[in-house]
Amino acid sequence: MSTASGTLNLGGKTINLPVKDGTIGPSVADISKLYAQSGMFTYDPGFTSTASCESEITYIDGDEGVLLHRGYPIDQLAENGTFLETCYLLLYGELPTQEQKTDFEFRIQRHTMVHEQMSRFFQGFRRDAHPMAVMVGSIGAMSAFYHDVTNIADPKVRMIASMRLIAKIPTLAAMAYKYTIGQPFVYPDNNLDYSSNFLNMCYAVPCEPYKVNPVMAKALDRIFILHADHEQNASTSTVRLAGSSGANPFACIAAGVACLWGPAHGGANEAALKMLAEIGSVENIPKFIARAKDKNDPFRLMGFGHRVYKNYDPRAKIMQQTCHEVLAEVGIQDDPLLDIAMELERIALSDEYFIEKKLYPNIDFYSGITLKAMGFPTSMFTVLFAVARTAGWIAQWKEMIEDPMQKIGRPRQLYTGKPKRDYVPMDKR
Ligand code: SDX
Repeated sequence: MSTASGTLNLGGKTINLPVKDGTIGPSVADISKLYAQSGMFTYDPGFTSTASCESEITYIDGDEGVLLHRGYPIDQLAENGTFLETCYLLLYGELPTQEQKTDFEFRIQRHTMVHEQMSRFFQGFRRDAHPMAVMVGSIGAMSAFYHDVTNIADPKVRMIASMRLIAKIPTLAAMAYKYTIGQPFVYPDNNLDYSSNFLNMCYAVPCEPYKVNPVMAKALDRIFILHADHEQNASTSTVRLAGSSGANPFACIAAGVACLWGPAHGGANEAALKMLAEIGSVENIPKFIARAKDKNDPFRLMGFGHRVYKNYDPRAKIMQQTCHEVLAEVGIQDDPLLDIAMELERIALSDEYFIEKKLYPNIDFYSGITLKAMGFPTSMFTVLFAVARTAGWIAQWKEMIEDPMQKIGRPRQLYTGKPKRDYVPMDKR
């Protein structure tokens, strides 16, 4: 939808910028013709003011702390739905009818196993390899097993690739975990729901029966919903950019996993728990707050701040509630790390520096404590984030491929290197 347009005076030229309005949220000034008309590029490191695409999937209002998936608020989806229902919503755009939900669950379950040779692929990793490194390698390797997803122009091929990824990523994640602890892989059990199946693949052993705790399964399913998609964040933009060249969808998701791993992004849940452990006691909090405010100290409070949310991350509220439910279920009355986290949050939210910079806890602040209470090692926290975000990544990848405006992503630059100069022979250097 286009309405008025803006003009820009650049280098003595008046450039016309058509304005496009969205359904809700900021309009955009279309600068796609700016270089042709002005000979100049725009400059926006980190894309803080740049919309890379049109999308109908997720909307975030950072000032109001709002997160919508296809128009549905995240708290309503987390309270009332399941993760697979959210996957259906992200992929198809509407909540499923009971028949559609049952069919979608059946189709996902028929793809939960991975090629048997994948288990041999894991043998190449050291046992102490970080599970995120194993995920990048094994998901990338999946593109070697599915040559029938190279014709991504076919909508059926795109959907089968989407189903395979949503179905197989938990299996690979559980295999990565089992491999690092030296236990045998556990096959998927199609009698279990998505999150129960994942817990079973992680915690069951061949020598005794394992019963999934329904409270844990429900909590994990809600955690997956909270992490499913989040607009054009760094890893989703990575998947879109990789996909814009026509790359195999499994390879694109492997690229997303690699980007998510960073501590400034999905690795923050692992980093936040390590930070709480480093703080060690409530008495030490002021020292770390001071470090976070010190410009000369690279230390940041992991789990605080966000590129878009300048208000409370709506997911963090639900994550905190889930954290208390899980701690109660495992009988942890007072986890010292939770005490530190709650006190850190209280102090930070009353500190002038954090108020002025609008730094609130984000989803990663409480997820680490919750996942630790569920028995996951710290190194698996971002893996779980990747399991959930695969749904968003593949929905965004599909939307990008189906966007008639899409073309290969190829940003330009401001060149500040040396001007043209001649080669210097060795004896003249
Ligand atoms: C995720 O994009 C998404 O949607 C991501 C995500 C998703 O679902 O995909 O929501 C998941 O990645 C959540 C964020 C997880 N990361 C962390 O918790 C790591 C700690 N947070 C920071 O690294 C930082 O807040 C970012 C990376 C999250 C946001 O970085 P921005 O938007 O580039 O903000 P900034 O670095 O420009 O910070 C603005 C100011 C700076 O001070 P000034 O230069 O203005 O003086 O705030 C300060 C920063 O120094 N600041 C912090 C801080 N975060 C920002 N100071 C102390 N502690 C912090 N955590």
